[in-house]
Amino acid sequence: MTDPFVSTQSLTKHFGPVRALTDISFDVHPGEILALVGENGAGKSTLMRLLEGVFPPTRGTIRVEGREVSFSQPRDAHRAGIRVIHQEPEIVPDLTVAENVFAGDLPRKARFFLDWARLNHDTAALLKKFGIARELHPRQMCSGLGPAQRQMIEIMRAVQAGGRLVAFDEPTSSLTDEETRRLFAIIRDLRAEGVAIIYISHRLAEITALADRVVVLRDGALVDDLPAQGVTEERITRLMVGRALSDMFPDRRPGTGPVVLKVEGLTTDHVRDISLELRAGEVLGIGGLIGAGRSELAKGIFGFHRRSAGSVAIDGTALPPGDTAAAIAAGIGFAPEDRKEEALLLLQTILENAVLCVPDKVSNAGFYDRRKARDLISRISDKMRLKASSLDAPVTSLSGGNQQKVVLTRWLACDLKVLILDEPTRGIDVGARSEIYDLIRKLTDHEGLGVIVISSEMPELLGLSDRILVMADGRLRAEFARADASEEAIMQAAIPHGTAAA
Ligand SMILES: Nc1ncnc2c1ncn2[C@@H]1O[C@H](COP(=O)(O)OP(=O)(O)OP(=O)(O)O)[C@@H](O)[C@H]1O
Ligand SMILES: [Mg+2]
Repeated sequence: MTDPFVSTQSLTKHFGPVRALTDISFDVHPGEILALVGENGAGKSTLMRLLEGVFPPTRGTIRVEGREVSFSQPRDAHRAGIRVIHQEPEIVPDLTVAENVFAGDLPRKARFFLDWARLNHDTAALLKKFGIARELHPRQMCSGLGPAQRQMIEIMRAVQAGGRLVAFDEPTSSLTDEETRRLFAIIRDLRAEGVAIIYISHRLAEITALADRVVVLRDGALVDDLPAQGVTEERITRLMVGRALSDMFPDRRPGTGPVVLKVEGLTTDHVRDISLELRAGEVLGIGGLIGAGRSELAKGIFGFHRRSAGSVAIDGTALPPGDTAAAIAAGIGFAPEDRKEEALLLLQTILENAVLCVPDKVSNAGFYDRRKARDLISRISDKMRLKASSLDAPVTSLSGGNQQKVVLTRWLACDLKVLILDEPTRGIDVGARSEIYDLIRKLTDHEGLGVIVISSEMPELLGLSDRILVMADGRLRAEFARADASEEAIMQAAIPHGTAAA
């Protein structure tokens, strides 16, 4: 075996009282893909931030090719050949593709003049190498690029700057299946070139498909370091969660209640002529490809997007268009896909975020009662296994998956009739995922809610839903009863017309 490119010795990071990482010792070798797995809040992103020099460790050392290093900023780590591809790529929209690829490292002629010809030429070569020369052009501006293309630019930047360890922190959560396949091909090419890879994902199927070795973190400690060959998803789950998860999807009782939500002819700038009914006690799944209009449908129902035609009614009472406050008052909850932009008040604490919709449940004679608030919220957040030092911590101090749990906690605290969940388990670890599925079942079976689940993950859509609607091009294309739904049938319906024939 080659010598490790990077190794850590007893690497430890505390944030005040929070022990994010304790005594982490591991190696990454050139030409190997190391998967890093663990529950939400286990410390994966923190470990990446230490390697990238975002902050220093509390204790312990990092060695690069055997030499101890001490990074005071990411630039130092970059010089040492360490690169992290972040989930939200840092791309400057007003610069061209080439300028972003070479950011901080633009080729110069003489001393002061940028060598534009070389810049564009070298970028074109990279685009070709990555097989995306038809899709992106060196001189194209980066504003308007999608998440997959932005991510590609970050990867090209890492490669052109001589990255010898490239770490990916949940890179596939906003990619289509096709984009994911392409990313995997690129990661395997990098491995073949001797780059060391660290790969973080909650999708365990990706881990078993891609990795050479798996390192498991639990509560900030390294609990196992094992070859990926022959390892099963069940085994990884058990190591991560510390227990076996029997059945991911709870048994269901089909929803037979009255119609709680009735949508007729709903049309907005993004969706056309949508009619659907949701019954009390029912889980209605919505499938389709990215861009099919699923999130836009949810926003149309909730009133985020103003409708130009059609109606939305709860228990027979019509809602005014474009009025989210009226939707909430009528009993609709909506947990959007992009929790940072749309759902969380980032300057506030976990508790403040969680009680947002239930002011009357947490007050006494008109005054905010913290004790009541804490009791209500901690009951729910314990069930969700929210990992936080305290409910008074700022929501920004939470790991990505735990922020999502705060959004769900907020809605679970309300007395709802209808709950709309857009990609509810994105970035959520397997253990918490099954808790969320259980909660959805309890809400429908015991509390009579109607729940709409938008999901790009087929097993989730098929496992949770009593009925599935499929969208394409902003319209409803198909409806399947649970018994008739299959992955193939849903995919078939999801392909936009026109492409299907081609
Ligand atoms: N800046 C910070 N201040 C305080 N606590 C923090 C900070 N950053 C991380 N933490 C805490 O450190 C722990 C590890 O968080 P980290 O983001 O590394 O988890 P993760 O494994 O990446 O989880 P996820 O899968 O949800 O992304 C969590 O308990 C988190 O709340
Ligand atoms: Mg993380």
